[in-house]
Amino acid sequence: MIFSRLSLLTLLCATVTIAYAQHNITVNNTSPLIQYEGNAGNATICKTNPDGTLQSGQPGCYNVPSHCTEGATMGQGGSGAASFSFNGTAIYIQSLLDSLSPIYTVTLDGKSTDVDGVRPSLPFVCAPLFSRTGLDPNVEHKVRLSVKGPSPDRNTSIEGSENFFTFSLISFTYTDGGNGTATSANGTASTSSGGSNLTTTKGSNAAAAFPSDIRAPYLAALVAVMTTFASLLH
Ligand SMILES: *[C@@H]1O[C@H](CO)[C@@H](O)[C@H](O)[C@H]1NC(C)=O
Ligand SMILES: *[C@@H]1O[C@H](CO)[C@@H](O)[C@H](O)[C@H]1NC(C)=O
Ligand SMILES: *[C@@H]1O[C@H](CO)[C@@H](O)[C@H](O)[C@H]1NC(C)=O
Ligand SMILES: *[C@@H]1O[C@H](CO)[C@@H](O)[C@H](O)[C@H]1NC(C)=O
Ligand SMILES: *[C@@H]1O[C@H](CO)[C@@H](O)[C@H](O)[C@H]1NC(C)=O
Ligand SMILES: *[C@@H]1O[C@H](CO)[C@@H](O)[C@H](O)[C@H]1NC(C)=O
Ligand SMILES: *[C@@H]1O[C@H](CO)[C@@H](O)[C@H](O)[C@H]1NC(C)=O
Ligand SMILES: *[C@@H]1O[C@H](CO)[C@@H](O)[C@H](O)[C@H]1NC(C)=O
Repeated sequence: MIFSRLSLLTLLCATVTIAYAQHNITVNNTSPLIQYEGNAGNATICKTNPDGTLQSGQPGCYNVPSHCTEGATMGQGGSGAASFSFNGTAIYIQSLLDSLSPIYTVTLDGKSTDVDGVRPSLPFVCAPLFSRTGLDPNVEHKVRLSVKGPSPDRNTSIEGSENFFTFSLISFTYTDGGNGTATSANGTASTSSGGSNLTTTKGSNAAAAFPSDIRAPYLAALVAVMTTFASLLH
């Protein structure tokens, strides 16, 4: 009996560790996890000389003087798009953007949002384009990035500016680790019911008191651990 309670305690501690480990995972443009459409293709970033000038013999390279990324997927015109599926609580999209970038449409779980890609710079800069947090950790999410059309905020003093927009994706970043917490905390509570029914009550109450707090399942599991530990001492 002691042994089984100790095993249970070990299990509970493991649960807490897993529940708390939220982290960002970045998926770069060349990952096979990303599905591309249209003319979006892996691009070459221009190499520069030590003095900052462009090296010769690099036709069609993209000028990113800051060298803020090793790579990006680019597409001239309007047909480029990228889709990505993930399990997580947040999504961030990074792109190469400039003063001629388009309006993008980001479709997340079927809901579309238009975002303006224009940034006040003519050489490209690496920039966050879109983010969404507070997603349901228990379902798979799908995000699709596509071009809507030229932005009214583009630099219109550049001739033909309405035709120069470019699809761009550096990476998708998603926040992992939200899932499993609710399941673990609830699973913990029912597993330990043989030892003490207090764990179930306190666990549920702690979770219910702060439903929007991401740490609530962690706190619930911690309460469960402490309660079980207390019952071990009796
Ligand atoms: C993930 O990245 C975003 C954007 O850089 C940042 O705001 C957020 O705090 C990060 N989340 C974690 C869990 O590191
Ligand atoms: C993408 O392009 C970069 C720059 O040309 C190159 O270094 C890299 O190997 C390419 N990656 C893939 C998967 O094609
Ligand atoms: C992703 O891109 C970043 C920035 O360019 C680079 O540092 C990192 O090594 C890349 N990771 C992979 C797995 O290609
Ligand atoms: C998301 O989680 C579900 C259930 O565990 C799994 O079937 C699916 O493959 C996951 N999706 C991704 C993109 O990892
Ligand atoms: C995520 O949640 C779903 C639904 O509750 C579940 O089926 C799946 O196993 C969970 N995935 C992980 C990695 O915990
Ligand atoms: C717009 O483009 C013109 C012509 O290249 C340039 O002189 C001007 O500085 C640009 N304006 C902005 C805000 O980037
Ligand atoms: C966990 O317990 C809470 C409160 O009892 C309940 O609302 C929620 O649906 C449960 N979650 C799972 C994944 O069983
Ligand atoms: C806990 O268990 C005791 C005895 O088994 C019972 O009398 C009590 O009502 C239970 N409390 C809860 C909250 O379930």
